[in-house]
Amino acid sequence: MTSFEQKEQVRQRAFEAIWDDKINDVFADVAPVYDRANDFASLGTLKGLRRRFIDTIDVKPGQRVLDVCGGTNVIGIELLNKEPQLEVHAADRSAAMQKVGGERAAKRGFKIESHICDVHTLPFPDNHFDVVTLQYATRHLRVIDVFSEINRVLKPGGRFYHFDMLRPANPIIEKSYYLYLKACLKMTSWAIGSSPVAVSCHNYFVDAIRLYYSTEEMSQLLRELGYTDVKGTSLLGGTVAMHQASKA
Ligand SMILES: C[S@@+](CC[C@H](N)C(=O)[O-])C[C@H]1O[C@@H](n2cnc3c(N)ncnc32)[C@H](O)[C@@H]1O
Repeated sequence: MTSFEQKEQVRQRAFEAIWDDKINDVFADVAPVYDRANDFASLGTLKGLRRRFIDTIDVKPGQRVLDVCGGTNVIGIELLNKEPQLEVHAADRSAAMQKVGGERAAKRGFKIESHICDVHTLPFPDNHFDVVTLQYATRHLRVIDVFSEINRVLKPGGRFYHFDMLRPANPIIEKSYYLYLKACLKMTSWAIGSSPVAVSCHNYFVDAIRLYYSTEEMSQLLRELGYTDVKGTSLLGGTVAMHQASKA
C-alpha cells in the first residue's frame, strides 16, 4: 500500500460518517446563501482567487467541459463568460446547490447540463471531456477515487484543473490558519444563521484540512495516479493552491 493509500484510509475512517450523512444536509442548508457566505468568509479574497484560477484554464470553442462538484455553478458560468461556445456539464450530489446553480446560469442566458450524482462514480464514458475542473470540494471526497475517475473521463491529452484549500506545509502558518478558520466559521455561521447540522460540522471543517495534503503532496499524488505535466501553484502561504495536470 502506498503512503497516499494509507493516508486516504485515515481520512476515510475519520470522516466517512460526515461525508455519508451530514455534508449533503450542510450544503442543502447553505445553498441559497452559499455564494454570499463564501465572499464573507474569505473577506472578499475569493473573487480575485477565482479569477486567477479561471485565467489559468485553457478552453477552446466547441470543447466539452465537466465541473466536478459544480455546486452553484460559479466555475461553469465563469468558463462560459470566457468562452460561450463550450458544452458545460456540472456533477454534484446536492440537488439544492444545483438548483441555485441552474437558476444563476439561466439568468445569464447559459445552459449548464446538471448531473445529480456522487462524484466517486462519474456517469460518463471513458475519454469524454476535453477539460475537467474541481474547485473547493476535494477535502470532502476520497481523493484517489475521484482523481482516478476524472482521469478516466478525460480524453487523452485533456486537462484537469483543481483549486482547493490545502494544508499549509509551514507548521507556523498551519497553526495560525486553524485559529483563523475557527474564528471565521463562527463569524460566518452567526452572519448567515447556520443550521445546527452546519454548526456541528465546524470541527470537521478544520480537521478536514489538518488531515489533507500540502501543495507538493497534491502534485505528487497526481503524478502517482498517472497524470503528466503536473503544475502546482501555492498561494496565501499554502492555504490554497491551484493544480493542473494532463491525461497521458
Ligand atoms: C464547497 S462546495 C463547492 C462548490 C463549487 N465547486 C464552488 O467552487 O463554489 C462543495 C460541493 O461539493 C459537493 N459534494 C460534496 N461531496 C460530494 C460527493 N460525494 N459527490 C458529489 N458532490 C459532492 C457539495 O454538494 C457541494 O456542492
